[in-house]
Amino acid sequence: MPRILHITDTHLVVPPALVSGVLDTAKLFEECVATAAAALLRIGPVDAVVVTGDLSDDGSMESYELFRRIVAPLDLPLLAIPGNHDLREPMRTAFRDLDLFDQSGRLNWVRDIGGLRVIGIDTLVEGSGGGEVDDATLGFLEETLSTHGPVLLAMHHPPFMSGIRFMDGIGLAGIEKLRGVLQGSDADIRILCGHLHLSATGAAGRIPAIVGPSPCSTFQFDFRAEAPVGFFLGSGGFMVHDWSEGFRSVHIPARIGDGPFPF
Ligand SMILES: [Fe+2]
Repeated sequence: MPRILHITDTHLVVPPALVSGVLDTAKLFEECVATAAAALLRIGPVDAVVVTGDLSDDGSMESYELFRRIVAPLDLPLLAIPGNHDLREPMRTAFRDLDLFDQSGRLNWVRDIGGLRVIGIDTLVEGSGGGEVDDATLGFLEETLSTHGPVLLAMHHPPFMSGIRFMDGIGLAGIEKLRGVLQGSDADIRILCGHLHLSATGAAGRIPAIVGPSPCSTFQFDFRAEAPVGFFLGSGGFMVHDWSEGFRSVHIPARIGDGPFPF
């Protein structure tokens, strides 16, 4: 059964730097990886780690090298796409040995894992918080979606409005075009995203889109016009997705309380 770990929005900076003067994101990611390593003992083999963007907070080479060092103990193939905080060229360089990205252009890729096709698309618009799926990427998607098997499609920006105003202000442009390409495919597709720093599920047309939480901070589900713009402390953990007769997605929190207690 193909199974992947889904990690997103680690926002790494090299210690002793703190994100927004508060978050030790390297330490929080180390804790997340330790939780994931423990989970692997319970949930059996996992085929890859899929990272849906904002690996780095500042796009530096050093932050990508730090990402590689922290995730290394999981000893799993790494599949990553950029988010709005990433920078394309440092990320391409830091991941060159993985043979995942082309030499130039967007950081799009496709991998087949035991009957499951995993596609990553790059929605980064450097200098902007918002994202887009450009025409070259739409073409890549159309080509790689020509399969009848199950597909996980990884992209940073969710293809739906979250209701959190400051995040929807930096949402995904061109959702209609993306929907058009997805609708032309017969595959059983699930979309995996990040960006929202919370667990949420929406859709692009008929296709479910699942947003993973961030291990470094949490955004509050607050629809009020006067909702504060900012983050809350607290690791959201990560997700596991697998496919057998159909898809299954599970959120694994960073910490749980004492237990198990007998019923
Ligand atoms: Fe983020």
